[in-house]
Amino acid sequence: MLYILDTADLEAIKHCNEFYPLAGVTTNPSIIAKEKTDFWKLVKEIRSIIGEEKMLHVQTTQKKAERIVEEAKLLKEALKGDFYVKIPIGEEGLKATMELKKLGIGVTMTAIFTPAQALIAAMAGASFVAPYVNRLDNILGDGTEVVAEIVNQLELYGSDCKVLAASFKNAEQVHKCASAGCHSVTVAADILKTVISHPMTDAAVAGFDKDWMSVYGEKTILDL
Ligand code: E4P
Repeated sequence: MLYILDTADLEAIKHCNEFYPLAGVTTNPSIIAKEKTDFWKLVKEIRSIIGEEKMLHVQTTQKKAERIVEEAKLLKEALKGDFYVKIPIGEEGLKATMELKKLGIGVTMTAIFTPAQALIAAMAGASFVAPYVNRLDNILGDGTEVVAEIVNQLELYGSDCKVLAASFKNAEQVHKCASAGCHSVTVAADILKTVISHPMTDAAVAGFDKDWMSVYGEKTILDL
């Protein structure tokens, strides 16, 4: 499972890059706009925090295939390293994906809501498909079930396209995607924190501390 951070908040990126086994960062136009700052400065800063080995996914703002390709080339040139352009599914997006495949620029096909959309994106050459779990759950769909179906179909057709599940509201959705064999998830920092938290863990650690201190006081192993 690849854990990716879905934010352009530099402090959150610095924190999670230090404390979690982070595989990269994803953004979208809404996430970027939230920071209300210079676009290029922001995305280059993200790249410098995570380094060139980790994945950086940045979404195109173009609608026409030729312009999407042009923008993707510019982004790849500027951001270097392990880079993916995010393109919403659609005819122009598929055309751009096939072109970018030839150019060796990775594509994450985004705004995916059905297995049928994911499969055709994979056949066009997308490296990742990004189904929106919570947005499906919000309309009485079953986001994690859709992720499971996509995982199965890609396997059935021997595709090397990976599922990058996106749009999460809670840790349970992340867990269900993992159980379905989903390859990667992109989540906000608070979801990562929830994933590692459990009241029983806190109770266990409090018990260890109490027992240790009853014999050794404030001393740690380093002091003994
Ligand atoms: C990722 O590709 C999506 O842009 C993102 O995860 C959407 O998340 P949201 O539904 O919380 O906006």
